[in-house]
Amino acid sequence: MALRIAYITDSHLGAPGTGYHQQSCWVDGLTELMPRLKKLLDDQQVDLVIHGGDMVDDGVEPMIRQSLDQLTTLDRPVLACLGNHDICQPDSYDLWQKIAAEYDAITLADAHRAFDECDVYVLNNYWADQNGPVMYWHPKPPYTHQPCILDAQVKWLDDHLTKHNDRPAIVAIHTQMDRVPASDPRLHDYIPKEYPATMNALFDRHPHVKLVLAGHCHVTALAPHGSRMHLTTAAMCEIPFHVRIIEVFDTAIGVKTHELGPAPEGVDFIDANAWAVGGDEDQHFVLPVCEC
Ligand SMILES: [Fe+2]
Repeated sequence: MALRIAYITDSHLGAPGTGYHQQSCWVDGLTELMPRLKKLLDDQQVDLVIHGGDMVDDGVEPMIRQSLDQLTTLDRPVLACLGNHDICQPDSYDLWQKIAAEYDAITLADAHRAFDECDVYVLNNYWADQNGPVMYWHPKPPYTHQPCILDAQVKWLDDHLTKHNDRPAIVAIHTQMDRVPASDPRLHDYIPKEYPATMNALFDRHPHVKLVLAGHCHVTALAPHGSRMHLTTAAMCEIPFHVRIIEVFDTAIGVKTHELGPAPEGVDFIDANAWAVGGDEDQHFVLPVCEC
């Protein structure tokens, strides 16, 4: 038996299509994409969905409710990280906590779920400016909030990983830790060095962390760290509407990337940004987990 996990990120419900993007956004496309996703999950017999964050483009109550309603239609447990767009209003974080409590299937980060095959952790990024870290991201230039993780979160994850070390661990967090693509300085240099340094030091202490999932950059890419793989995944709202299907077996983790196409007329692939959907090596791979 295998545990099957679907990973999606950056669905940006309500996005006008003019904000940050790598490929063309299907504006209002989620009403069509979510049923397609449900069919894929059924076909692939997926047990669990992880959303990497930026569920909504603007963290206001109607968008939060609509997003959680849509995620509920998937008929599976959903673990969700909050992305910067999810918390772009001063009261967004509190709204997420209050509203998500009404949905049995939805669990917000920080959270841990134990399965026979692996442990799954979802974490939230905090965002820091000169006043320190807060669960709020200011959505307008000059974008002074930078991604970080609190010492208390590091301790929480450290303690859990120490306690649950007999099977592989998968961790999801919104902001990527690596150059994207790994060999290229694009979409990384604005991230303070402390963030990836803290995360990598934590994961290096726990070699059973095998897969680290991120989003935020809207790029499908793979960055190897020894026997641990860091993945980022393109935005679900952007063509070609990527979904990762992760199969966790006793001795290996397999990752395949699916597309929820086709796109409607007028939502065209941007050839100049073809790199952002990754190559075959970024989209499909098998990771051994047996240390023997
Ligand atoms: Fe983001």
